[in-house]
Amino acid sequence: MSQTSQQQPIDYNLKVVRQFTVMTIIWGIIGMALGVFIAAELIWPDLSLHLPYLTYSRLRPLHTNAVIFAFGTSALFATSYYVVQKTCQVRLFSDKLAAFTFWGWQAVIVAAVITLPLGITSSKEYAELEWPIDILIAVVWIAYALVFFATIVKRRTSHIYVANWFYGGFIVTIALLHIGNSLAVPVSFTKSYSMYSGAVDAMMQWWYGHNAVGFLLTAGFLGMMYYFVPKQAERPVYSYRLSVVHFWALISLYIWAGPHHLHYTALPDWTQSVGMVMSVILFVPSWGGMINGIMTLSGAWHKLRTDPILRFLIVSLSFYGMSTFEGPMMAIKSVNALSHYTDWTIGHVHSGALGWVAMISIGAMYFLVPRLFNQERLYSTRLVNVHFWLHTIGVVLYIVAMWISGVMQGLMWRATNSDGTLTYSFVESVEASYPFWFVRFVGGVFIVTGMLIMAYNCYKTIRAGQRASAAVSHDVKTA
Ligand code: HEM
Ligand code: HEM
Repeated sequence: MSQTSQQQPIDYNLKVVRQFTVMTIIWGIIGMALGVFIAAELIWPDLSLHLPYLTYSRLRPLHTNAVIFAFGTSALFATSYYVVQKTCQVRLFSDKLAAFTFWGWQAVIVAAVITLPLGITSSKEYAELEWPIDILIAVVWIAYALVFFATIVKRRTSHIYVANWFYGGFIVTIALLHIGNSLAVPVSFTKSYSMYSGAVDAMMQWWYGHNAVGFLLTAGFLGMMYYFVPKQAERPVYSYRLSVVHFWALISLYIWAGPHHLHYTALPDWTQSVGMVMSVILFVPSWGGMINGIMTLSGAWHKLRTDPILRFLIVSLSFYGMSTFEGPMMAIKSVNALSHYTDWTIGHVHSGALGWVAMISIGAMYFLVPRLFNQERLYSTRLVNVHFWLHTIGVVLYIVAMWISGVMQGLMWRATNSDGTLTYSFVESVEASYPFWFVRFVGGVFIVTGMLIMAYNCYKTIRAGQRASAAVSHDVKTA
């Protein structure tokens, strides 16, 4: 409950927010544990027990689907439903439709957990799920758009807070990308062929793939940032004008950058150059967002010393800045000639995914859990601090190991002897990578340990909240 300016209580729909919040934590643990498992398989391949369901090739897409669509997207559902209600001062447009998006989305994820280990896949990265699941995704997403935008339409505030602009951009674009890229001809219930072929298929796929990064892993989480950073810091956004300018710049540039995934391929050369140039320019609005977020802390820097939730939120922005400096650099063709196919890309991905996406989500979940479950504060702030350090050390171990092994791999692959033959065989580069893969594995163990601590801390908070509610209702009954 909250009060409007006319002092009328608002009965927000927090049930769906609670459901998505709890599932964010659960899927986070599962998705990241899968990451640790596949990281271990690269070092000890026999961990698959020679079962096809447990091979690296089948579990890798399960990891990416679990972390992006189960963990990350559940966090986006939870926070967007919370933020849109709070900033528009109204209850969600439809409880039934909101509940449908929760159960529908969980069904999508369970379908992924079953089909991917069975080897049922369209083999398009981040769009591996087969056509019946794709249709379910489209239906759930349209319901999500309806709930979100109809809530904005019936708002009681005069303006639309900037966080909703980012969430809205993310919702519309993901619908467009998913439906566009998934168009396929089914040949059976579990197999289909893409409507596109050859270079056009590759172009569509990376238009989708890159914008999944740009709109899901970036714009959606910027929406999260614009609500939770000012709230936790108890400061207004540094510059509202900058937030609007970088919103429009970001969404108009991101959509062109996809071809940087296809440098030196059969794609027409000019499209590769457009992709490169747009990616380099993208650095500017990306840093606009990062600076706006970090500067929101002006005058409240001291809070970082005592507030580990704020630390999660602010450090996530530093990782966002780092990965959006690195990305434009990797999009330059001559740099990409070295980085492509190597662990450098994997390091870049995880500085964005684990540094930015996971840390901002974790910070937002810590903010939400006590508020959603009738508690003043979390069960233990000390445990949040322990989590913060485990996560930060884990991410740094992961990405530094990948940068070193990535550059090493790139250099080994291009080294030639004076007679023009290759200096190293591919196997030699794999052998040289083992120590770095081990460091990544250790980093992953740190991160998952932190997630388990988070689950314990949130569980204790939720239990205390339930006990308090039970005591209140008991008092009411006996009064
Ligand atoms: C404990 C944490 C994690 C570990 C140990 C981990 C590990 C891994 C490993 C071993 C790979 C395969 C790398 C390769 O093919 O060489 C991978 C790929 C990937 N992971 Fe993670 N991961 C973690 C968390 C996350 C999170 C939280 C996200 C996203 C929010 C994420 C997104 C991805 C993506 C997008 C790829 C594919 C990268 C590409 O194809 O270039 N990971 N991860
Ligand atoms: C200005 C922003 C960014 C630019 C220009 C950019 C650019 C790039 C480039 C050039 C690659 C390597 C392509 C290749 O060689 O195959 C790449 C890969 C990737 N980036 Fe970024 N990046 C940016 C931000 C981010 C952020 C913030 C995230 C995550 C939250 C992210 C996630 C990824 C993923 C998942 C891949 C691997 C895709 C794949 O091959 O499977 N990027 N990015």
